[in-house]
Amino acid sequence: MSAPPLTQLEVPPEEALAIRAKVRRADPLTLGANYRLARSEHAAGLTELLVDPRVSDPIYDLPRPTTLRNISDWIAAAQRKHADGEGLLVVMLDAAGGVCGYSCFTVWPEHSAAEIAGGYRADRQSQGEGKLGAARSFDWIFDAFGVRLIVVTAALDNLRSARVIETAGFQYMGTRLCTRADGTSRESRYWEMHRPGE
Ligand SMILES: CC(C)(COP(=O)(O)OP(=O)(O)OC[C@H]1O[C@@H](n2cnc3c(N)ncnc32)[C@H](O)[C@@H]1OP(=O)(O)O)[C@@H](O)C(=O)NCCC(=O)NCCS
Repeated sequence: MSAPPLTQLEVPPEEALAIRAKVRRADPLTLGANYRLARSEHAAGLTELLVDPRVSDPIYDLPRPTTLRNISDWIAAAQRKHADGEGLLVVMLDAAGGVCGYSCFTVWPEHSAAEIAGGYRADRQSQGEGKLGAARSFDWIFDAFGVRLIVVTAALDNLRSARVIETAGFQYMGTRLCTRADGTSRESRYWEMHRPGE
């Protein structure tokens, strides 16, 4: 499960309420033309994407094991979180309409903070797409949710993620223990980025 940020901002109740309202209204199409809110019709494609360990192994906050049932439940839970203004699960579609990536946004309105996790299908990795997509997503999070802080984690050996995160200007804050859905834990590297001008 995602842990709240290390940095605890002072957040007035009206700011938290405004963030919840913005998250409910957030439209993935403003992030990319092939981005969609995950719905039950994407469950099979998302399962196929995540059953590949090259995609899911480095990510701690996914349902496990990767079964159609678990992924369908995850989508339904994400829809409830979206309705509460606390997150968004987004799929990316390829030209044939298949799921070729996903982003999971967790929002803590009371901390004015959000976290992003995600991945691309193996055939699309290491071609520069992650770096570009991540940079766009970080800007989008500040703009679309109105939060003041973004946090990210990566497995200790996830060099590509670390590169993407540090290129975007995140500040490294050390390691932290992350808990997976099955209760096991993983040591992760942890970064934060404040909204420009904060
Ligand atoms: C992590 C991920 C999103 C990165 O996206 P990507 O499109 O594969 O990465 P990019 O091609 O944009 O490369 C990012 C950086 O890593 C470098 N890189 C690419 N392949 C690499 C490799 N095999 N080993 C080390 N560095 C590598 C690139 O050179 C680039 O660095 P640069 O800015 O100095 O040029 C993607 O690999 C992925 O989905 N991985 C599986 C899931 C995952 O790890 N998710 C992140 C969890 S935090």
